[in-house]
Amino acid sequence: MSRFYDRIVSQVRTLTPYQPGKPIDELQRELGLARISKLASNENPLGCSPKVVAAIEQALPNLARYPDGNAYYFKQKLAAHLGVQPGQILPGNGSNEVLELVVRTFAGPGDEVIYDQYAFAVYPLSTRAAGATGVAVPAKDYAHDLSAMADAITARTKVIFLANPNNPTGTLFDTATFEQFMQRVPEQVIVVLDEAYYEYVQVADYPDGLDYLSRYPNLLVSRTFSKVYGLAGVRLGYLVGDAEIIDYLNRVREPFNVNTLAQVAGMAALDDKDFVAESVELNRDNMAWFTAALTTLKLAYIPSSGNFVTVHTGADTARINQSLLQQGVIVRPLTGYGMAEWLRISIGTRDELEHCVDALQEACRV
Ligand SMILES: Cc1ncc(COP(=O)(O)O)c(C=O)c1O
Repeated sequence: MSRFYDRIVSQVRTLTPYQPGKPIDELQRELGLARISKLASNENPLGCSPKVVAAIEQALPNLARYPDGNAYYFKQKLAAHLGVQPGQILPGNGSNEVLELVVRTFAGPGDEVIYDQYAFAVYPLSTRAAGATGVAVPAKDYAHDLSAMADAITARTKVIFLANPNNPTGTLFDTATFEQFMQRVPEQVIVVLDEAYYEYVQVADYPDGLDYLSRYPNLLVSRTFSKVYGLAGVRLGYLVGDAEIIDYLNRVREPFNVNTLAQVAGMAALDDKDFVAESVELNRDNMAWFTAALTTLKLAYIPSSGNFVTVHTGADTARINQSLLQQGVIVRPLTGYGMAEWLRISIGTRDELEHCVDALQEACRV
């Protein structure tokens, strides 16, 4: 135990760090493998748009200057793209940052934050870091049980996190379920609707969070450039909501939270609609191919609306994961999510997925 242990605020002492996917370099160093397929972090296998690369190159000579702390041009462009006012947007260093800012702004010791049993790890992490109490509501068939989540609201509830689709399960809730839920939430309770995988959703009955903002000022919608836009490395995400709430969140954020390259990358990414369409199409086709292959391998999975699928690998999951790593395939074990018998696998290129299927076949053979 370090000599600083007693000085660390109690809510931080008990935190377990977020587990990122194993970096490619690390596995290459460890095993010296030539071929590595990283399918652990739901990244875009196509990379990002060439327009983004060109915009970043053009911005490189200006790195000595601080970024625009207000992200003026980025917000103007994004607002026009989304059909909202720039004052309704809070850009962040990934959507991760804006999710955390919401908790820090609205919840502290004695307050409750509600999320699903299989919620994205950042919700419980930021709740605990703020000293608030997390209320994990049991899922129904691995999906959010919105009715049970509404039942869990108390006088102490400050924030409710919903992810649609959810990570790590890929599950979705429909319009009617969402509307019934929102009607039950008191107006002073903040609902964060996390739409990190929004662009990948193919079903018609999907509630687009932005459509509900004028009806529910307590609703905040988060989205990201990390997934379909392929910009996980530059860190860019945002929150959209009531301008007054955004104004308060702005007071808590760091002055230069979104760097110059992220701002220009985001603007260029919005211009390349073909790249987004191509990424969505690839994901749809490869999801169909990969899930068919899983069925052939007799591996059950949770049908997913995101760019990943969670696969049931059973009691032998730790060994299977180890075998996949030895074969150069990095996927995401879900023990930290209370899903020790499952692996989450991102939808990569066909080549990466073939590598994964071969490795799974080998790993499951024993
Ligand atoms: C549901 C969900 N929300 C938010 C994020 C955070 O993404 P980022 O901080 O890269 O925008 C992720 C990343 O995997 C996610 O799965």
